[in-house]
Amino acid sequence: MSRNPHLLLEGILITCFCVGIHNAFIYIRGEYEFVARRLESALEEARSQGLLGKNILNSGFDLEVLVHRGAGAYICGEETALLESLEGKRGNPRLKPPFPASIGLFDCPTVINNVETLANIPGIVQHGAEWFVGLGRPRDGGTRLFGVSGKVRNPGLYEMPVGSSLRDLIFEQAGGMAEGKELKAVIPGGMSAPVLRADEIDLPLDGDSLTEAGSMLGSGGVIVIDRDTSMLEVLRIIVEFYAHESCGQCTPCRIGTSWIRKIVERISRGEGRPGDVDEIIRLASNIQGKTLCPLGDAAALPILAIARKFRVELEAPLKV
Ligand SMILES: Cc1cc2nc3c(=O)[nH]c(=O)nc-3n(C[C@H](O)[C@H](O)[C@H](O)COP(=O)(O)O)c2cc1C
Ligand code: SF4
Repeated sequence: MSRNPHLLLEGILITCFCVGIHNAFIYIRGEYEFVARRLESALEEARSQGLLGKNILNSGFDLEVLVHRGAGAYICGEETALLESLEGKRGNPRLKPPFPASIGLFDCPTVINNVETLANIPGIVQHGAEWFVGLGRPRDGGTRLFGVSGKVRNPGLYEMPVGSSLRDLIFEQAGGMAEGKELKAVIPGGMSAPVLRADEIDLPLDGDSLTEAGSMLGSGGVIVIDRDTSMLEVLRIIVEFYAHESCGQCTPCRIGTSWIRKIVERISRGEGRPGDVDEIIRLASNIQGKTLCPLGDAAALPILAIARKFRVELEAPLKV
């Protein structure tokens, strides 16, 4: 969106033309002001070239695209919460079904796609589906953007073919560990993705391989953790985030995340008790699969992975 906004606009135009849509919205977090302004000026450029508005390039096809800035709630990335927010309401996820394709924005059938998905469309139309599949894996084509953060020499955004090696992304593309430290763990697909230990990172970055490894490709946000980083602190940050971002509609998510946060904060203060890690596992298991939207699972799965894989480290500060 910041470097090549017209790629996204072209993807939106093609999608809308194919489906017969005349109004499109780019929903963006309020904090991304620079990107929102960049999109606005790209829309202006497209309009001035006759690529948006009425009777585009004399085709008889009309399309209006609007940039809508949210207020920064993570849950508004969930598609039905996004629709609520776009309608001017609180961003609470809706019950599904009905799915947005049948009843979506203002009760109209609605297509919702990720920006990365839409930006792939012009390339696929131009070069063909086989070209796209050939870039990645048979069941998972193309390239993905990986946002590498944490303890690496060169954190940043890397575009790689789907199926590239996670080790290569960290140790070649991102320059390896910062300050020559040892790798401890990797969160491979954004905060919701269950953590991998250092000995689990020899795998291709595609959906199937990460699912097989008990994690997920998710948003492609790769977080690299070194030996000097406390997994208790990583867990505390994750739990704090989800407890804060839970919209509060379902009890297991609302109560479960804040209850786990209380326990983790207690351990962090040096006041943990024997059985606390088992209690965290019990609470997170009671969130998993029992909520209205996937945020519940997105909170439970990384908590369970850290509690199970790094139990010894979490239990070290507990009072006996
Ligand atoms: C809690 C939550 C947050 C999400 N946040 C985002 C987001 O920030 N951006 C995004 O594109 N999709 C986000 N999603 C996924 C969307 O709901 C949706 O499934 C996806 O964008 C569909 O696009 P795709 O089919 O092109 O991948 C989120 C989902 C959940 C459950
Ligand atoms: S799972 Fe959490 S975020 Fe999703 S609807 Fe329920 S309370 Fe809200």
